[in-house]
Amino acid sequence: MKNITKICCIGAGYVGGPTMAVIANKCPHIQVTVVDLNEARIAAWNDVDTDNIPVYEPGLSEVVAEARGRNLFFSTAVDDAIAEADMIFISVNTPTKTYGAGKGMGADLKYIELCARQIARVSMTDKIIVEKSTLPVRTAEAVRDILHNTGKGVKFQVLSNPEFLAEGTAVADLFNPDRVLIGGDSTEEGQEAIQALVDIYNNWIPRERILTTNVWSSELSKLVANAFLAQRISSINSISELCEKTEADVNEVARAIGTDSRIGSKFLKASVGFGGSCFQKDILNLVYISRSFGLQEVADYWEQVIIMNDHQKKRFALNMIKSLYNTISGKKIAFLGWAFKKDTNDTRESAAIYVADELLNEQARIRVYDPKVNSDQIFGDLNYLQTRKPEENASNVKVFEDPYRACENAHAIAILTEWDEFKDYDWQRIYDSMLKPAKVFDGRNLLDADKLRKIGFKVQSIGTTS
Ligand code: NAD
Ligand code: UDX
Repeated sequence: MKNITKICCIGAGYVGGPTMAVIANKCPHIQVTVVDLNEARIAAWNDVDTDNIPVYEPGLSEVVAEARGRNLFFSTAVDDAIAEADMIFISVNTPTKTYGAGKGMGADLKYIELCARQIARVSMTDKIIVEKSTLPVRTAEAVRDILHNTGKGVKFQVLSNPEFLAEGTAVADLFNPDRVLIGGDSTEEGQEAIQALVDIYNNWIPRERILTTNVWSSELSKLVANAFLAQRISSINSISELCEKTEADVNEVARAIGTDSRIGSKFLKASVGFGGSCFQKDILNLVYISRSFGLQEVADYWEQVIIMNDHQKKRFALNMIKSLYNTISGKKIAFLGWAFKKDTNDTRESAAIYVADELLNEQARIRVYDPKVNSDQIFGDLNYLQTRKPEENASNVKVFEDPYRACENAHAIAILTEWDEFKDYDWQRIYDSMLKPAKVFDGRNLLDADKLRKIGFKVQSIGTTS
């Protein structure tokens, strides 16, 4: 296998952009070209001011600034980049299907197949294809099938190399991952391809943290990792409801169980519900795959993680309505946070969207402030639900650039994202500007409830009555 000197990555999104920026940063001897069909996105990655790149991640603009133009390039010339590359990462979106068989459950693989066909059409030299997208187990079979039937005599090896970065900490995760997973064939050519990718990561990641498996284990491990992580959140969220009935405190319970090294303390933070583009999509996919093999009990087991998460989001909204005397029509409710977690501008599947939708059904007037999410995104998220006409969303939701103004004359505040800055606000000033009784519904257990209560707020947190 020849030395890899040119990499192409198809898909300049939340994974393709940061992942390739870090490879380019750590491997100055490799030319990395990230391509996308979306011209606006590529233009933003090429913005002279790297603060305007389309993905907000702490530390990312510096990494891009260092490598861009040297050995990191962003382009819409997909064919050219494919033709030149020795190794091609496929990092396109694999959303839940919205039509046909598997609608609402299975992964939509049309973008993956389009990439495979484009690679097959354009390639004139041998290449290693790397599945970076999260894919149903056995997708590599279909990719191979398309690539191996071009009749041009070009040889391809297909590897699975799922990405485990979390948004908000993407750069730190990529610089120092718990592990890198590479799945490939057991044939000599397969092993050579695995080694070529190992050599790239080994430029900054110790060899013992680079795991190699067969392709199917690698594809499946990604879905399973996300399912296990999400399951912990649904588990603690289920207990949060029990805590609210029994005067136990979910934060204390999480600490008490998390100090058992077999359980571990991470991912036990009760919340308004998990969001993000991955957890729900990947569990639905796992459920769909299990069902398609007739594994009903396996499917039902994992589906419960989603059912509990939907319940948690709805429960949060219904609790707000109940606490506001069962009538919120015309009441102003300020949302602090819209992103699905802090330190990202990503809002996909954010709990805030679903909580807002419930409250808008009751004719509330929502006022949103998020430090990194703009109003186009917020209205886009609400309109995508198609629960009501865009004009209705436009007249009942207002987006603010100043958190204090968002809270003025509000009946209640809901904390939907755990942005650090919310903790440091002048809460006395906010209290003074609100209607009384001034209520705070803390969906992230972020704020110091005792401090707020001393000011005069009525505070409700998740999984605690104190
Ligand atoms: P994204 O939507 O942000 O980016 C995907 C990009 O691919 C888009 O810009 C789209 O225009 C482009 N694209 C689609 N088809 C194309 C084609 N044929 N040619 C060129 N460009 C094309 O998605 P993402 O969040 O980066 O996720 C990508 C994959 O990585 C998904 O499978 C996801 O499940 C997985 N993943 C995501 C995360 C995450 O935190 N977002 C983490 C791990 C894995
Ligand atoms: C997740 C996985 O962590 C990552 O490994 C994978 O590659 C992509 O999916 P991401 O969705 O970016 O990453 O963020 P993550 O930190 O996992 O948070 C997901 C959601 O769970 C967020 O809404 C977050 O607020 C919520 N969460 C997380 C909790 O509610 N409680 C917790 O204890 C942890």
